[in-house]
Amino acid sequence: MCGIVGYIGYRSAIDVLLNGLTKLEYRGYDSSGIALHNGKHIDTYKAVGKLSNLKDIINPIKSELDKSTVGIGHIRWATHGAPTTINAHPHTCNCGKLVLVHNGIIENYQELKEKLEKEGCVFKSQTDTETVAHLIAKEYGKLHNLTEAVRVATEKIEGAYALCVMHQDEPDTIVATKRNAPLVVGIGENEFVVASDVPAIIDYTNKAMYLEDNQIVTLTKNSMKLIDKDNHELKGKIEVLPWEPVALSKMGYKHFMMKEIHEQPSIIRNLLSGKITGLNEPLNLSEVKLDKDAVKDLNRIQIVACGTSLHAAMVAKYIIEDFCNIAVDVEPSSEYIYRKTVTDKNTLVIGVSQSGETADTITAVRQSKEKGSHILIITNRPDSTMARYADSLISVCAGIEVSVAATKSYMAQLVAFYLLAIYIAEIKNSADKELLKRLKKELIVLPEKAEEILSQETPIKKIAHKYANSKNFIYIARGINFPTALEGALKLKEISYINATGYTAGELKHGPIAMLDETLPVLSIMMKGKVYDKILSNSEEAKARNAKMIALTNVTDDNLKDLFDDIITIPETDEYLSPILAIIPLQLIAYYIAEFLGKDVDQPRNLAKSVTVE
Ligand code: M6R
Repeated sequence: MCGIVGYIGYRSAIDVLLNGLTKLEYRGYDSSGIALHNGKHIDTYKAVGKLSNLKDIINPIKSELDKSTVGIGHIRWATHGAPTTINAHPHTCNCGKLVLVHNGIIENYQELKEKLEKEGCVFKSQTDTETVAHLIAKEYGKLHNLTEAVRVATEKIEGAYALCVMHQDEPDTIVATKRNAPLVVGIGENEFVVASDVPAIIDYTNKAMYLEDNQIVTLTKNSMKLIDKDNHELKGKIEVLPWEPVALSKMGYKHFMMKEIHEQPSIIRNLLSGKITGLNEPLNLSEVKLDKDAVKDLNRIQIVACGTSLHAAMVAKYIIEDFCNIAVDVEPSSEYIYRKTVTDKNTLVIGVSQSGETADTITAVRQSKEKGSHILIITNRPDSTMARYADSLISVCAGIEVSVAATKSYMAQLVAFYLLAIYIAEIKNSADKELLKRLKKELIVLPEKAEEILSQETPIKKIAHKYANSKNFIYIARGINFPTALEGALKLKEISYINATGYTAGELKHGPIAMLDETLPVLSIMMKGKVYDKILSNSEEAKARNAKMIALTNVTDDNLKDLFDDIITIPETDEYLSPILAIIPLQLIAYYIAEFLGKDVDQPRNLAKSVTVE
C-alpha cells in the first residue's frame, strides 16, 4: 500500500505531485504529504485523512509554492504507527536536510532503530520509514553524495521498499530505488516523474522505465543515471506505455462503484469478443501458452488470490473440476506462501489479481515459479509486477477500477475463468460437447441479461433501504453460488461496515442458525439447478427461526412469496453461469445500503485498493 511520487523538471512540482497523488489515492488515504525543494531548503506539508485535507492546506499558499520544480509526495495506508501528522510522510533525518517517501515495510526496522538511537538519532514518529531517513542521512554525512548514501544504506535494509529521496544540499536531484515494491520512472523532455504506478505519470509522458529490484536511479532535470547495488552503471529498458492519460470520471454517477457496476455488461462483451467465434469452433484463447499436450497432461491446478479475486477463483474450481476433470485447489495467497505446497511439472499455478500488485499473491506466484510450475496470471493490469512472472497472461481489460470495492474486475475474472475452463475442456475433450456449446451460446447473451438486471434497480434499492439498519446479515447459497454468497457479504462488509457473512446453506444448521432471530436478514441465493430445492429447505429452516428472509432467484414461483419477505428475481441462465448474473444484485444491495447509511462508498475506512504489504 501507500503511493509515492517524485517530480523534477520545469513545471510547478506541486501541481504534478498533487495530480499524481490523486491518481494514487487508491493505494491508501490515511494521510498524505509533500516535500518541495525551493533551491535553498526543503519544506514539507502533511495532513491526516483524505488527500483533500492536504489540498486544503496547500491551496491558500499555492502561488508561493509554484516556483518549486523539484519535490516528492506520499499517500499513506498506515502499517507502523497510527495515521497521524507525525507519522505521515515525507520523513526527515534529525537535521531536516534529508527527506524521503516510502512504500513498503522495513522488516528489520527495530534492530536498525535501536542501533541508530544508540548513535544519537532521535525518532519523532512510530514508523518503520523514519529509520531509513536516519540511515541514509548517516551515510550522507560520510559520503556527501545522495546516490551513494542511498546505495550503501539500502544494503542494510530488509523488507520491501520503493523510495524517493531528496537532500537539501543537492537541490537538483531525486534518488529513487525499490525492492519488492513497484516503481516506474516517466521520462519526459527535461523532466522526470517517478511513481508507484503509471496513472501518476501518464499525463506527462508515455515513455517509461520500470525499475528492477535493487536498482537506483538518480534524476536531475535533464539526466537520468541508473546503477545496480554494486554501483555498476546500467542501461535501463525504456518502454512506450500503451496508456492514454486517465481521466478518472464518474460519468454522471454519484460514485465510481456505481459506474463500475454499470460497466459490467460491456466488459463481458469485450472479453468474449474474438474468443467465441462459432459454437462448433474451438474457443480461441491464445493467451494460454501451454501447448496442447501440456494441457492434456495437467493433473492439478492451484489458484492463489486474495479477497474478491479469491471468490472468482472459488467459482473457477467448480467449473474447471466439472468440465476439465482436473483437481483444483484454491487458496488465499497469504496461507499458500507459508506452507509446503505440492506441485510437479504438470501443475498449473494461476495467480488472480485485479491490481497485479497484491504482495501475498506476488509472493505465492514467485515461489511457484521458482519451483518450475507454469504460471498463468489473470489480471486487470498487464503492466503490473505480477504480470511479469507470467508464462501465460490473461488481461481482463476491465479498465481502471477506482472504487476500492471490486465489482467489474470480479466480473471480468469470472468470465476469464469460464473461457479458460471451456478452452481446457475442449482440448482435453473432457466435457459433454452439447454442454459446452450451450454455455458458449448462453455466454454471448449474458451481457443483455446483465443489462436487464441493471435496468431494474428500483426494487433492489427499496429492499436495500428496508434492511439498511440491520446490524448483521447472512448470505446463504450452495454449490457454484457459495462464492457468490461470500462475495456479496464481502461487498456489504467493506462499504457499509455491517457484519455480513456468507455460508453454504447446508452449514447453517451446524452452528450459525443459533444467531437467527427476527432482527437478522438471511439472503438466500437460489438459482435454478440441482441444489435449488436444497436451498429452499434450508431457507425454510431459517424462516422457522423467525429470520427475515430475502430471496435472490431466477425461478418464478408464487409459492416463494409465503417463505420470503422480499424477492429479487433475475433472468434465468444455465446454473453453471449463474454466478455472473447473481452477483450484480448483491453489488447493488451493498451499494445502496452504504449510500443510504452515508458511508464513503468509494474509499471505505481502513482499506486500500492495492494491498502491497504481506
Ligand atoms: O488486486 P487484487 O485483486 O489482488 O486484490 C485482492 C483484494 O485485496 C481485493 O479483492 C479486496 O478484497 C477488494 N477490496 C474487494 O472488494
